Amino acid sequence: MNNSAVVHLRNGGTSVLLDTSGPALPVIVHWGADLGSPDAADLDAIVLATLPQRVSGGLDVPARLGLLPQESTGWQGTPGLTGSRAGRFFSPALVTTAIDHTGDTLIVHATDDINRLALRIDLAVDAAGVLSSSLTLTNTGDDDYDLVDLCVTLPLPASADEILDTTGRHLRERSPQRHAFTQGRHQRDSRKGRPGADATLLLAAGTPGFGFETGLVHAAHLAFSGNHRLAAEKLVTGSAFLQAGELLAAGEIRLAPGAAYSTPTVIASWGDGLNELSARIHTRLRSRDVHPRTPRPVTLNTWEAVYFDHDLGRLTALAQAAARVGVERYVLDDGWFHGRRDDTAGLGDWVVDADVWPDGLGPLIDTVTGLGMQFGLWVEPEMVNPDSDLARAHPDWLLQAAGRLPVEGRQQQVLDLSHPDAYAYILESLDALLVEYPIGYLKWDHNRDLVDAGSTRTGTAAVHENVVALYALLDELKARHQGLEIESCASGGARVDLGILDHTDRIWTSDCIDPIERLTIQKYTGLLVPYELLGAHISGPESHSTGRRHDLSLRAGVALFGHLGIEWDISALSAADEAELISWIDLYKANRALFHTGTSVHVDHGDPAVDLRGVVAADQSEAMFVFSLVASSAAYPVGLLRFTGLADDTRYSVRLVNREHTGVGTGQSPLVWAERPLTLTGRALRTIGLQGPALFPEHLAVFQITSA
Ligand code: DGJ
Repeated sequence: MNNSAVVHLRNGGTSVLLDTSGPALPVIVHWGADLGSPDAADLDAIVLATLPQRVSGGLDVPARLGLLPQESTGWQGTPGLTGSRAGRFFSPALVTTAIDHTGDTLIVHATDDINRLALRIDLAVDAAGVLSSSLTLTNTGDDDYDLVDLCVTLPLPASADEILDTTGRHLRERSPQRHAFTQGRHQRDSRKGRPGADATLLLAAGTPGFGFETGLVHAAHLAFSGNHRLAAEKLVTGSAFLQAGELLAAGEIRLAPGAAYSTPTVIASWGDGLNELSARIHTRLRSRDVHPRTPRPVTLNTWEAVYFDHDLGRLTALAQAAARVGVERYVLDDGWFHGRRDDTAGLGDWVVDADVWPDGLGPLIDTVTGLGMQFGLWVEPEMVNPDSDLARAHPDWLLQAAGRLPVEGRQQQVLDLSHPDAYAYILESLDALLVEYPIGYLKWDHNRDLVDAGSTRTGTAAVHENVVALYALLDELKARHQGLEIESCASGGARVDLGILDHTDRIWTSDCIDPIERLTIQKYTGLLVPYELLGAHISGPESHSTGRRHDLSLRAGVALFGHLGIEWDISALSAADEAELISWIDLYKANRALFHTGTSVHVDHGDPAVDLRGVVAADQSEAMFVFSLVASSAAYPVGLLRFTGLADDTRYSVRLVNREHTGVGTGQSPLVWAERPLTLTGRALRTIGLQGPALFPEHLAVFQITSA
């Protein structure tokens, strides 16, 4: 074997080793722990050591898992490419024609002269140690090529025996699921035209019982906001791999001669525990040019405060209360536009409702900005109520399958943004609002799953084209209005992905603001999305979606782990409640730089009633942790609390921030460590920990940790 055929991409603590000896497509021999700087002979030896053995009953040439697995090589798992020319030319046989290796990126060019296809594979390892990859397929023939499936495929180590993914629903996104990773395929499809509340943001596979702090684990995410597929597969040959790609409808991508299709980018990470895996992704996101770097403003969103009751007096009082408690951004939610008195009508008619707002939005906006807050506005541009002037004037602008409109969702249909006239109408409507009013922020909603999403112009499925058009629309609005920030909301967290986050500035994590539910929702959304991009609001005392009641300390302490806001009618708070709310907002403001640049960590505490999470400064000089008792525990007190992610040899002091709000009754002795000045090393805090305070169930304690 030629030594130069082994490519070692090494960056950010990650090594990816590829055998590019060809002519078969390159094979990833290793993806994971840094291999150091092996010389060419060592690299050569590693590759030779991993070559498969032929066994009885198998094909004469054992197939290897190439960057695009193909049946033509003898591969018997799910292939990376499926398509045909009207049923013929069904089995591609792409071979490498050129390799371009620069630094930590690799570009592979491959062609198949019989099937008349060309493929480009992009692979890179960034400074955070994240592996990214995409594929571009070109039809080099002179007839159409119907693409069915094109997926990025990445190998998993043999130790991967357990899968973690998430499912969910409206008001309960990101419920974790664990499965044994046995032979066969575990596949998560999204067919909702948006990732969906049930989307698994990451599909992870690792050693049995892998946790947040330890256990080798690898995971993939598809940076795309439409239909998609993530799978983990294990073959009888011992090969295990992740696959990710767009889920295409029949005929959705038909490549004309010379046309090309590119997959969305697959973002893949690994770690000794999910904390490390997740930190790599967060670091990658934070290095983007478009990443928000200004302090994330405390936001008040009017939805749960007033719903559709748009009354200038009431909204003005709310703005005044917001300014008093330290809110910095005021967002007027659904209900302001023509005909929108409830959720049955109006979507599509993006002009201010003259009945409800006879003087326009100006009076409210003047109050908001006069109080020193930024003004934000809710929109749902991709949606149309059948009861709207837009739907009546342009029925052909609605996505639909031939001959019938889709089943409605929330009494709405979906605009075909790939229709040039519909696109122009929405762009100009939103632009007019942004020109007329000083709007610094759009809460961009999307409140239904798509079904039968076809274009009336082409008669073909149009989810892909609509996602492309949506990204262009978001970019165009931002280009026209410098500094405009946009939130991706979709019935809460039904459109959370790194595709949309390249064009928006945060996500609305969930419509459920019950802090107990939020602990799980934010924990698993946070695997992908760092806190500064994750909307987390303080609800009223009674959760509107669960009916549970909680103290302000729990509601606020959980919301600290995000981009903090308020979703509550605070216009008539008692003086004591207002003072307590101010103290939590002040705590957020004093620590938002830490939350929004630090490393997110979760502690693997054995007690299911204990949730212990924190954020550690990048230089490990400080940290903030929150211990929540999510239910009553069988243990009383619960076991020692350990704090992970700190520097082993640094001494830290630990302070309990909210002693007066922990909810405990009488009978507890003082905590010895909290009564005296005490310092502990990061090593002691990580390995031994300290006694946590007794808490009432559904209460929390905040720990401020600073280097001594
Ligand atoms: C769903 C969103 O998730 C809510 O926050 C709110 O904006 C409503 N839509 C408004 O209709």
